[in-house]
Amino acid sequence: MNLLPKGIGGCPYLFLAPMEGLGDRPFRKALSKIGGFDEACTEFLRVPSNAHVASLAKQYQKEDTFPIPQAVQIMGSHPELMGAMAQELAKKGAPRIDLNCGCPSNTVTGRGAGSSLLKNPSQLYQIAKTMVEAVSVPVTAKLRSGYEDISLFRENLLAAQESGVKFVTLHPRTKAEGYAPPARWDLIAEAKTILKIPVVGNGDILKVEDAVRMLKETGCDALMIGRGSVINPWIFHHIRAFFAGETYVPEKNALQNFVRNFWETMVETGMPISTQLNKLKQLMSFLFKANAPLLEKRGEMLSKRCSNPAEFLAFVFPILQEG
Ligand SMILES: Cc1cc2nc3c(=O)[nH]c(=O)nc-3n(C[C@H](O)[C@H](O)[C@H](O)COP(=O)(O)O)c2cc1C
Repeated sequence: MNLLPKGIGGCPYLFLAPMEGLGDRPFRKALSKIGGFDEACTEFLRVPSNAHVASLAKQYQKEDTFPIPQAVQIMGSHPELMGAMAQELAKKGAPRIDLNCGCPSNTVTGRGAGSSLLKNPSQLYQIAKTMVEAVSVPVTAKLRSGYEDISLFRENLLAAQESGVKFVTLHPRTKAEGYAPPARWDLIAEAKTILKIPVVGNGDILKVEDAVRMLKETGCDALMIGRGSVINPWIFHHIRAFFAGETYVPEKNALQNFVRNFWETMVETGMPISTQLNKLKQLMSFLFKANAPLLEKRGEMLSKRCSNPAEFLAFVFPILQEG
């Protein structure tokens, strides 16, 4: 894994962000068919204190995003279990294992995992180090800037580095900030001055200009994009094209094909019709933010009542065509 830009003026390494409930298997599979990013990552796999790691690891399917490598993210607070989990996942072919140090959910943080680790750099260090020692594949950590505030920002970054992780991804908001805009990119720049290992910048990249500006303002080594790829599934191609001095134009019907692929995976996995409908609506709620004509129709789309996914798609496809 080489995080340096590919050639002078070349495109930096591009990661698809882990997104529980949004960037799950149907999305990752469909987006991988569009491609443009170097690596995907699963949403967090929770490792509770009574975890049976071999059974839990079955949830990871490395080929979801083939031919794009798919890392796996794990979340927990017990070092030995997290080490054992990392080992199981490495056995299943995971190319990289990421430690979640950012999930803001109270059910998670209440148990000392996710962003709670940011309250205790020595625990963060211990868990990451146990994972690093357990496997030969790269272990990485994804951090927010802090829990309530950024008072332990430096300590947390250094704890991650000391543990032996290959790089950190920084989403520069505290747990308390949730997703309130804007992400503090100045903290990504600060992380670059604190760490020797690479820093992957993340947060609020919605278009090519944001990607270029984040690289310029922060000096980060690579980029990770989450919600921007749901609003614009071609964002990675657009960024790549920019660095190649080209423009990227998606094929005709590409958006419809993307949505159809997304739906097909839900059908294949036997998801109930009501969940399929909810997830299609969730995807549309992002896609309809892509431009003004779609934004105008977003309310109508969200309030549309349909009894099955086919009916809903028959309603949205002509709108997407116009958008
Ligand atoms: C619905 C949703 C689910 C998320 N789930 C995860 C997760 O499982 N693991 C994680 O590290 N971050 C998770 N995140 C945070 C994203 O990976 C990313 O750090 C954040 O959205 C900021 O990047 P963006 O502005 O490009 O979306 C999630 C974000 C969203 C919106």
